[in-house]
Amino acid sequence: MFILGIETSCDETSAAVVEDGVKLLSNVVASQVDVHSLYGGVVPEIASRAHAESISAVVAEAIEKSGVKIYDIGAVAVTYAPGLIGALLAGLSFAKGLSYALGVPLVPVHHIRGHVAANYLARPSPKPPFFALVVSGGHTSLIKVEDYAVYSTIGSTRDDAAGEAFDKAARVMGLPYPGGAAMDTLAEKGDPGAVKFPSPRVEGHEFDFSFSGLKTSLINYVANNGGEQCLDQKTKADIAASFTFTLVKAVTDRLERLFIKKGNLPLVLAGGVAANSHLRKSVTLLCEKHGAELFMPPISLCGDNAAMIASQGFFELLAGNISQKNQNAYASLGV
Ligand code: KG4
Ligand code: ZN
Repeated sequence: MFILGIETSCDETSAAVVEDGVKLLSNVVASQVDVHSLYGGVVPEIASRAHAESISAVVAEAIEKSGVKIYDIGAVAVTYAPGLIGALLAGLSFAKGLSYALGVPLVPVHHIRGHVAANYLARPSPKPPFFALVVSGGHTSLIKVEDYAVYSTIGSTRDDAAGEAFDKAARVMGLPYPGGAAMDTLAEKGDPGAVKFPSPRVEGHEFDFSFSGLKTSLINYVANNGGEQCLDQKTKADIAASFTFTLVKAVTDRLERLFIKKGNLPLVLAGGVAANSHLRKSVTLLCEKHGAELFMPPISLCGDNAAMIASQGFFELLAGNISQKNQNAYASLGV
């Protein structure tokens, strides 16, 4: 079955066609980064308007590139939560109209489930049950995926998401928005032991994360050293490497505890921060140590895209999860 996926939860307008949840036929991603970088972050109102402007052309291009005729699309899958509400509604409304016009089901897809499903488009691909670590600009969650459409949360961030912390750190150091990828490259040249940053635990919740203290201490460190304009490249690289080391260690510590306490099911990485080379290396070593199978999406499918939504949409449809006519969007919603 051919599924058309639509993703507009943040600052990427994306449409894709995927066959049977696993075969990628097209994936068009129109990024709004240039617009938002003027402001150093995503401006919700601008994001919604930009989605409304580009969605028709993006969907048309995805259909054309897939080689599938629009009347052969079996269902429309759309991100309905979580995300920026105006941005979500732009995609959901378009998807509703299209599914109605084509006379096919509308399938609501949770954004985090979509990120996990990016892995089903790679080879080899994971089969539930498995653990998933979703690290992105808006989310940091440790999840057990019992089945393709049966999720339970093991732990999540109490404050900032991992990507949010990377973006803020990058901004304070004068790197271009969004800063995650730039921090990755800069950290490569630095000494991870140069600066001791704190890595708090959440008392009584061993699988939860907290990154705001780490973020704040980087901000203070830069300020106490005169601001980013007073730092040379080597010092900036040392800060980036130390920050990355601390964040990655917080993540791998929880994963290690997970393997020890709950058994070593396969582990699936997902989300924009899953592109981080240091995280990928550390998690690879950890999984080798514990004999756990590891799946990571290709870098091209780590960030927001509609292929992952179409993939998960197929499995939601198989599980009978179809939208009613009054389907709404939600800014926050458990996975
Ligand atoms: O999954 P995503 O595209 O959007 C959300 O669902 O939030 O993730 C975007 C986040 C941004 O914070 C971006 O800076 C971060 O992923 N990111 C990275 C890297 N590439 C993207 N963070 C660290 N290292 C990277 N290589
Ligand atoms: Zn995302």
